[in-house]
Amino acid sequence: MTTERDREPAIRVQNLQKSFKELHVLRGVDFDVAPGSIFALLGSNGAGKTTIVRILSTLLRADAGTATVNGFDVAADALNVRESISLTGQFAAVDEILSGRENLVLVAKLRHLKNPGEVADELLTRFTLTDAASRKVSTYSGGMRRRLDIAMSLIGQPKVIFLDEPTTGLDPEARLEVWQVVKELAGRGTTVLLTTQYLDEAEQLADRIAILHEGRIIANGTLAELKQLLPPAKVEYVEKQPSLEDIFLALVGTGAKAETRKDKS
Ligand SMILES: Nc1ncnc2c1ncn2[C@@H]1O[C@H](COP(=O)(O)OP(=O)(O)OP(=O)(O)O)[C@@H](O)[C@H]1O
Ligand SMILES: [Mg+2]
Repeated sequence: MTTERDREPAIRVQNLQKSFKELHVLRGVDFDVAPGSIFALLGSNGAGKTTIVRILSTLLRADAGTATVNGFDVAADALNVRESISLTGQFAAVDEILSGRENLVLVAKLRHLKNPGEVADELLTRFTLTDAASRKVSTYSGGMRRRLDIAMSLIGQPKVIFLDEPTTGLDPEARLEVWQVVKELAGRGTTVLLTTQYLDEAEQLADRIAILHEGRIIANGTLAELKQLLPPAKVEYVEKQPSLEDIFLALVGTGAKAETRKDKS
């Protein structure tokens, strides 16, 4: 049965503002993320994606506006927010000298779980890292590190997980592996907010996509909804559907590029 609380957004951001000295990075950001959904935050370099993630994960204070995560206010109730979330930053936070299993056991112990070994083994299986479990992380590939990093962030079963550019620098195969993991997470009811530079990643993964530009969310919707923001391609361009990249470039004001691309096809 769905209770009132389940229908509440897992993340609610209202009029969020943040400046660094004269630089107004966030100028009033609003969005909601439904529980168990995957929400992708898109934006150019320096748009403020990481700033939003840091505010939502209580690492940074907003200047104005409110944000709640799992029903808790990030400013007033930081402790409860921290217990509800995990954060995987852009660079893997794994310990190179330890083995994969040791990393997992360490985090499980830090989280005061009763059976750290079991927790580690279960995650190793789930992330197909069992064969590499006792190898030092320094010998892992980028994709394996990412998977381990995400596995570590799942210990303690956070309700909401933040993935800041989870696949940057990964090869296509490793990206697919991470996508699989993210989909599985959402399938189990975890809410995922991810930032990405890869528009195809958002297309593939996200239930909703928001575009952050000049300090505000300038578009927010399902892929189908975003596609409707662009006029359908002219008749000459037979059945050319706009890609998310076309939409993104048109919305952030580099529409000329999108047109050039279309002309070529
Ligand atoms: N602690 C800080 N002090 C000063 N400026 C900062 C600080 N943190 C971020 N900024 C600036 O705020 C802007 C937004 O940064 P942020 O890291 O949120 O962008 P981003 O969207 O995550 O970019 P990227 O795609 O490159 O990761 C940038 O201009 C950045 O230089
Ligand atoms: Mg960033």
